[in-house]
Amino acid sequence: MNIKNIAVIGAGTMGNGIAHAFSQKNFIVYLVDSEQAYLDNAIKNISSNMDRQIKKGLFSTAQKEIYLQSIKPVMDAHNLPESIDLVIEAIIENKSAKIELFNELDKIINPNCIFTSNTSSISITELAKSSRPDKFCGMHFMNPVPIMELVEIIRGYTTSQDTFNTVKEISIQLGKTPVEVYDYPGFVSNRILIPMINEAIFTLHEGVASAVDIDTVMKLGMNHPMGPLELADFIGLDVCLDIMNVLYEGFKDSKYRPCPLLVKMINAGKLGRKSKEGFYKY
Ligand code: NAI
Repeated sequence: MNIKNIAVIGAGTMGNGIAHAFSQKNFIVYLVDSEQAYLDNAIKNISSNMDRQIKKGLFSTAQKEIYLQSIKPVMDAHNLPESIDLVIEAIIENKSAKIELFNELDKIINPNCIFTSNTSSISITELAKSSRPDKFCGMHFMNPVPIMELVEIIRGYTTSQDTFNTVKEISIQLGKTPVEVYDYPGFVSNRILIPMINEAIFTLHEGVASAVDIDTVMKLGMNHPMGPLELADFIGLDVCLDIMNVLYEGFKDSKYRPCPLLVKMINAGKLGRKSKEGFYKY
């Protein structure tokens, strides 16, 4: 399948990163959001992130203009052209909002188009059921998208081999490294990362070591670029808790119970960087 026209739905952190990455590989990107202000902001962010790449000597200002022109902001999915080949959904992490959106997109977008979701934790099999089960899979990018090389391609129960192959091929064209993952809670990335962060919080909670020392062990001892508590602050403690709960409910296994300190900090409004305080002050 020849994929040229991409619709990215949701122009937040991930949506604008995904649009940015596709624009640099000769795709036409329709970037959709429900609010004009979010679209304006997304284009501004993409433009300043491209300026950073120009400073690194990656491309010229003239090339930037070509990239930006290939991103078409769209206020409502009903205004998308007929010819969309691939949808990448990156709206808020809310199952019913995503299902409602896919139901609607299924009615207005041509039946050959492949639908994907960038969800971090919602079942791809369940989302697939709400629209076109065989032409649906997960496309889980990492933040910041233009820089991070990985894409987890999540095969739902009903994802066809053709759909998987096409999405894998597109990920390679995008310059990313795709990995094949089956649809189980947390996929691979969050199933391993978030329990590690939760264990670091238990280690702090039990007084085994200070936050700085826990992070130092993981940075200097394991060569991680960021310590787990620093990373939790970066991701957002509320997001970490939501994913722990998805693992706990999905596997019904007590090894995924969220640390009580994580819950208490969220109740106190300490969400990490975005609230200016988490395990560290910002
Ligand atoms: P965000 O909150 O920054 O952006 C969401 C955007 O979606 C907002 O601009 C909002 O106006 C828009 N939106 C909401 N409902 C909409 C609708 N019905 N139609 C069109 N636009 C709509 O969220 P973020 O962080 O970009 O996350 C998006 C998705 O990506 C979530 O599913 C999240 O789990 C996933 N994800 C997030 C990562 C991260 O590090 N932030 C990493 C990997 C996946």
